[in-house]
Amino acid sequence: MGKNVIKFVCGECGYESGKWLGRCPACNSWNTLQEERIDNKPRITGELKGRAVALSHIENERVERFSTGIGELDRVLGGGIVPGSLILLGGDPGIGKSTLLLQVADHIAGKGEKVLYLSGEESFKQIRLRSLRLGINNENIYLLNEQNIDFLGDFVQKIKPRLVIIDSIQTVYSGNLSSIPGSVSQLKECTARITELAKASDISVFLVGHVTKEGAIAGPKILEHMVDVVVYFEGEKNFAFRLLRGIKNRFGATDELGILEMTGQGLLEVKDPSQYFLDTEAKNVSGTAVAVSFEGSRPFLIEMQALVASSLPPYVRRMAFGIEQNRLALLIAVLEKRRGILLTNCDVYLKVTGGLFLKDPAVDLAVIGAVFSSYKDKPLPSDMVFIGEVGLSGKIRQVPFIDARLKEAEKMGYKKAVIPAGLSFKPGFDPRMEIIQVGMLDEFIEVLM
Ligand code: TYD
Ligand code: MG
Repeated sequence: MGKNVIKFVCGECGYESGKWLGRCPACNSWNTLQEERIDNKPRITGELKGRAVALSHIENERVERFSTGIGELDRVLGGGIVPGSLILLGGDPGIGKSTLLLQVADHIAGKGEKVLYLSGEESFKQIRLRSLRLGINNENIYLLNEQNIDFLGDFVQKIKPRLVIIDSIQTVYSGNLSSIPGSVSQLKECTARITELAKASDISVFLVGHVTKEGAIAGPKILEHMVDVVVYFEGEKNFAFRLLRGIKNRFGATDELGILEMTGQGLLEVKDPSQYFLDTEAKNVSGTAVAVSFEGSRPFLIEMQALVASSLPPYVRRMAFGIEQNRLALLIAVLEKRRGILLTNCDVYLKVTGGLFLKDPAVDLAVIGAVFSSYKDKPLPSDMVFIGEVGLSGKIRQVPFIDARLKEAEKMGYKKAVIPAGLSFKPGFDPRMEIIQVGMLDEFIEVLM
């Protein structure tokens, strides 16, 4: 006989402990361990259901994806939804997950396919209000307010949807477990049950997962390994644009980025991100430099804004919004050590326009350019872009996709590009821009003087 065991499970990462701890030793989050009753049922043995098949005997089926109707989401999914797949859409509450999925539901319903939308969070009335606001009124969208996942299979059989939306995974439960909805064991159990259903009936499922700061319910992180595709929906509440970031994809490339804009009519695609992230008003102002960042499979231009202001040590500030704080500190250290520009008596603030967070090291050169420009209070040429990673030695390091980056800058009307020395272009690519190659930080600063 199995018996129930009490365990303490971290809602962020799923770490299990025999006793309660204030801080999770695995992910260092505070107050995320919750008491859970783990049902230790014995494994049922019975008829053999599985089978082993020679790899070469498995038919080669082409995966037929279907579109979500939102190009930016299709891009992040690797070209659309794969039938039978589970997609986790994570994000902060209020960021627009339900809005996005209702729009997807509308597109698929418009193709004559059925969509089952399980809402554990909002009443039918609330969803109806949103749908009216979005101009969505399709009889192929079925709303379900049953939070017990054990009945989902029955509804799927009855309605035969192409797509199921679970909004959110933290509000559903299975009667198999005694723990509350949103606990780690419920999340895992429900996701496992939904996976079985999806694979057996070849329907695709979107799971909405709220990212939680407080540990009352578990976050979507612990489900990442159980699903096929993980997409995070990000953005600042004060900005209209939203980012779809692909974190995991069993059917395509990860690190893909989709850009949407939240409007009164719901989410719209941003087809030309460069236009979106350039602050054209700010030309001829000191402290700004344009970088060409590569996110996912495409480049876009984005502006770095720096402010160097005098300060009283020891309260010197270094603040970065949109790049890693430590990276700014490191680049300032390189500027001080390799060029003798002392910023010890200065506060340095750096901001990426639009509230985007960039990981691409190729924006280093623009960061240094912006900081230097603010320090000298001298605007940089407004038709110039900066591409390159800066090493600790002051060497300007090469970056991938230089051709695509330069093409994007040309497209946006820029005339000059500062890039790492020694780069060769692909045959057939002949940039019309003036190319300035710099090998070391010193040479770069000379260009800016
Ligand atoms: P919602 O999709 O409910 O967020 P989530 O499901 O991630 O919690 O979106 C919430 C916000 O979006 C809300 O503050 C209102 C705003 N919104 C618009 O700006 N335009 C719209 O057309 C809609 C439907 C919502
Ligand atoms: Mg919602």
